[in-house]
Amino acid sequence: MNTSKAVIIGATSGIGRELAKIFSQKGFVLGLAGRRQQLLLELQEELATPTYIKRIDVARQDDSIRYLKELVTEMGGMEIIVISSGVCFSGRGLDWQMEKKTIDVNVSGFAAMADTAFDFFCGQGSGQIVGISSVRAARGGWSAPAYNASKAFVSNYLEGLRIKAGKMGKDIHMTDIRPGFVDTPMLGGRKSKFLVTPADKAAEQIFSAVKSRKKSAYIPQKWALIAMALKILPYKMYEKL
Ligand SMILES: NC(=O)c1ccc[n+]([C@@H]2O[C@H](COP(=O)([O-])OP(=O)(O)OC[C@H]3O[C@@H](n4cnc5c(N)ncnc54)[C@H](OP(=O)(O)O)[C@@H]3O)[C@@H](O)[C@H]2O)c1
Repeated sequence: MNTSKAVIIGATSGIGRELAKIFSQKGFVLGLAGRRQQLLLELQEELATPTYIKRIDVARQDDSIRYLKELVTEMGGMEIIVISSGVCFSGRGLDWQMEKKTIDVNVSGFAAMADTAFDFFCGQGSGQIVGISSVRAARGGWSAPAYNASKAFVSNYLEGLRIKAGKMGKDIHMTDIRPGFVDTPMLGGRKSKFLVTPADKAAEQIFSAVKSRKKSAYIPQKWALIAMALKILPYKMYEKL
């Protein structure tokens, strides 16, 4: 891989934070973003390679587009962007404010970052956009309907961008990452560690998929089988899960 500058949106915690450490170990110049400035500063201190930080709230799309462009200018370029920012609110009831927040961050925020990067990569003729989708993209989810739907959007959107880049004759790669359970604050201290992958291990596997410019990857790979089973499970059985 001849790339050296990577941006990670959602680098303050979990998968994004672990990925930042790996990219830095591999010698990448980094641009890190998220809302929690203090955590960005702490991570910047920790990393050995040149690291630029920017407070970006992807739920505010106009500002986030402007700040991403500023970040890339400060870094002097970008070859890879990982859009790891995401929220998930699960519950028995349905709270529109939580659903809206999920759509604002995981759908509109994701698309704003992906489109800005796509535009930039079109200008330079190459690049790679990595989106963190989920195994939950496979089907609707009763406990967090907007979350599952938002991840289906991420996977579907990346496929659309991939075909668009091909038709435009641009060397832009889209990598759709679909993790199963990863041990991050998003899991909310889930007690059982059954099928849960440590965040650093998940990040290693994600980095490897990015490096090989995979179109999509389940993290870890065994989740591909689970996703397939979920997809073919008859509705009558699926609704009972
Ligand atoms: N953990 C899992 O089991 C799992 C499974 C499948 C997919 N995923 C996906 O993996 C991605 C990373 O999640 P994680 O597990 O690492 O959770 P996490 O530890 O909660 O990290 C979420 C990241 O998203 C950022 N973020 C949230 N809202 C944002 C906003 N409005 N603007 C900018 N950044 C925002 C957070 O930064 P700030 O709060 O500082 O803004 C944080 O860095 C998410 O897209 C998630 O849906 C996770």
